[in-house]
Amino acid sequence: MTLTTEDQARQLRILLADRLEATGHLPDPEWRRAFEAVPRHAFVPKFWTLVDGHMRQITAGDPEWLETAYQDSALATQLTDGVATSSSTAPSLMLDMLHALDVADGMRVLEIATGTGYNAALLAERLGSGNVVTVEVDPDLAWLAEVRLHTCGYAPTVLAGDGRAGQAGAPFDRLIATCGFSRVPRAWLGQVRPGGVIVCPVGWGIVRLIVSGDGATEGRFLPTGSYFMAVRDAGATGTATHPGRPNGAEQRLVTLDLGAVAGDERFRFLISLVAPNISLSTERDETGVFTAVELWAADGSWARVEHGTAWQAGPRRLWDVVETAHEVYEQHGRPGRERFGMTVTPDIQEVWLDSPDGPCWVLSS
Ligand SMILES: C[S@@+](CC[C@H](N)C(=O)[O-])C[C@H]1O[C@@H](n2cnc3c(N)ncnc32)[C@H](O)[C@@H]1O
Repeated sequence: MTLTTEDQARQLRILLADRLEATGHLPDPEWRRAFEAVPRHAFVPKFWTLVDGHMRQITAGDPEWLETAYQDSALATQLTDGVATSSSTAPSLMLDMLHALDVADGMRVLEIATGTGYNAALLAERLGSGNVVTVEVDPDLAWLAEVRLHTCGYAPTVLAGDGRAGQAGAPFDRLIATCGFSRVPRAWLGQVRPGGVIVCPVGWGIVRLIVSGDGATEGRFLPTGSYFMAVRDAGATGTATHPGRPNGAEQRLVTLDLGAVAGDERFRFLISLVAPNISLSTERDETGVFTAVELWAADGSWARVEHGTAWQAGPRRLWDVVETAHEVYEQHGRPGRERFGMTVTPDIQEVWLDSPDGPCWVLSS
């Protein structure tokens, strides 16, 4: 007997759910039920994956489409000038964030960054469509997501707009964002009721904040890494284009080993906090040893380090910032993300290590 596409998809979904449960990403039976019910493939009829360093397009009907849709991978679903501007997040990361959101029946959730609509479908399956509002900056994507949600039997409120601004219908019990931020948008503090939870990517990590009625909203980072595409304005890509090598860069000798920066994923998280909104690339020789690190940002800041020398230009001396942060990192035993926390008030946002009294870094936008 030949299986229908829907039967095959269901089998693949159960296999993926088994794997995600075995690896600790699906501990809650309610989320498992929702995960098994929502057809991810229906939200990703076309996507791109990286094959041998090149983006390869896969569409519904291609032999590998269904199997790839049910792998634990992020799938780029929109490219703008070669840059991914929308995607479906890797299921394990999505489930870690949903678990951290700590929802209960009847709660109302605001999702920022609808993308494909898949995560909104999971929320709608778990809480009921009437309890979910989702916002997407790209009106075409918002429309497509709404159509696909309806096709699958879900009807959350899908809004086209800038998720940083907040939405009518507040206060919500929970807010979850699935694009990257350097700070928590100030408007969100009024979007979630006191005691409610915000789960938001900040830098290359994810913070879980408990909203306070009047004092400081505070919380800790999840242990998991995250490299979400940056929040953007409508029509923009949100990604800084590489500036090329600027003229007149300052030059100095460096003491910090490149591998300590480029090869240490935990330290990269701290870099994303102290040097917000940067892009980072690395080069290695044929034996795998790091030979160069380059950092750049949309404000024109640029640094390149190779052969024991740092060249820096632009308003921020990015390599200086990295070296200073590395000293703190070493002094405190190379902390992982879970040792960091964050305090948000209407006036200031700080990330701290171990406790609000520990070493801290003020987050700039
Ligand atoms: C990783 S995707 C979201 C994944 C999505 N939750 C899903 O399940 O498919 C990031 C999305 O954030 C959207 N985005 C970027 N900036 C935004 C903003 N200011 N407001 C709302 N959405 C935004 C992008 O257009 C993109 O679709």
